[in-house]
Order: sequence, then C-alpha cells, then structure tokens
Amino acid sequence: MPQLLKKEILQRTERYVRETLEGEGTGHDWWHIHRVRNTALKLASQEKADLYITELAALLHDIADHKFHNGDDTIGPEVAGKWLRSLNVDPELITHVQEIIKDLSYKGAEVATPMRTIEGKVVQDADRLDALGAIGIARAFAYGGHKNRALHDPDIPPTMHDSFESYKKDTGPTINHFYEKLFLLKDRMNTESARVLAEERHLFMKEYIDRFLKEWDGN
Ligand code: ADP
Ligand code: NI
Repeated sequence: MPQLLKKEILQRTERYVRETLEGEGTGHDWWHIHRVRNTALKLASQEKADLYITELAALLHDIADHKFHNGDDTIGPEVAGKWLRSLNVDPELITHVQEIIKDLSYKGAEVATPMRTIEGKVVQDADRLDALGAIGIARAFAYGGHKNRALHDPDIPPTMHDSFESYKKDTGPTINHFYEKLFLLKDRMNTESARVLAEERHLFMKEYIDRFLKEWDGN
C-alpha cells in the first residue's frame, strides 16, 4: 500500500473507531472519543505536543478497553497496532501510540500511572477530564448500571486500591468510585491547563455527591 497522507489516516481511523464504538452504552461510546480527541488537541497545542500522535492516540485509546475484555490490558494496544499497521503507518509511531494506550488507564488510588511523553500526558489528561463534572457523573452511573452495581451502599466503604489487579476486581457501588478514583483525579493531572479545568469539574461533582448523600439520609 502506498504511504497515505496523515489526513487520510486520521479520517479512516475516525471512521473505524466511530463504527466500532457507535451506540456503546457505558460512556465509552464514540462521543466519549470525540470529546477526548477535542480536549486532547486543545491541550496539545497549549503544551506544544505533536498533534498527529495526540489525535491518533486519542481516537484509538478505548478501541478495546480491558474493562470490557475480562481485564485483559494488552488487547487495546494490540488492536490499535493491528489497525495502524493495516494503514502502513510508520512503525515507530505505532509503538508510541501503543505505549500511550497501554499506560493511559487509571489503576487504583495508590498506583502511579506515569506517562513518558507529552503526547501521552495530554491524552491521559483529556481522558480523565471526561471522567469529571456533569459528564463524569453520567458516565459513572451508566457504567455502574451496565455492570449491575448498586448506586450506593453505606455499609461498603471505598477501597484505596494498591494494585491494578485489586482495582480491576472491585465490584463496589458506584458512589465508591467517586472516592476511589474521580475525586482523586484533579491532583493527578499532568498539565497545568488540565488542572484548571479539572478543579472546576471537581467542585461540581463534590456538590452533587454531597447532595446525593443528604437525600439518602432523607434531608
Ligand atoms: P480509564 O481507562 O482511566 O478507566 P476510561 O476512558 O476507560 O478511563 O473511562 C473510565 C470511566 O469509566 C470512569 O471515569 C467511569 O465513568 C467509568 N468507570 C470505570 N470504573 C467504574 C466503576 N467502578 N464505577 C463507575 N464507573 C466506572
Ligand atoms: Ni477513555
């Protein structure tokens, strides 16, 4: 196959991801990818990251998520690599995109998730921003419902996971996810621009959970 133009590779990848994730019902659908791509590109231009790598990684980051493949976290980079090879993309670039997808995911409150490159940092920030705020709340409950999780159970306290294995196995109620992940994200942003956005979304989410717990107690 002749070398395709970057623009063409992005267009084909967008179509592939859209067709694969269209209508997905857990908040990992095409529109999540669309939002992450846009936010990542904005952060990338502020941080002077490579826009092409950022966009490819953002588009492909949830193409085969471990959460929907029995916890297998090798499948995302594998599927993305296969797709990019089919488009004859430069092997070095493929390895970089695969590395970003592999390192991106949250792995528990006590587990560090460093990103080596600035492109990885902005895609991770963008993905995490989409887990916060009004959209973050909607996604958490959509995911919880899909996994048959209780909304809340005051008898089950949140867990500060110290390994990816224990984080992946957890089946606690959705409210716990706010304490185990979502409220921790604002302090784990890689870039200053993302930190500012995260702060605002964090406050909104906090207000929402305070209210939820008040209503739980009949107030
Ligand atoms: P990551 O790879 O960091 O998990 P994703 O883009 O795959 O990021 O999406 C994570 C989102 O999935 C969370 O922000 C949340 O909306 C949802 N999610 C994941 N685990 C849970 C959970 N245990 N309870 C509720 N929502 C969850
Ligand atoms: Ni994502």
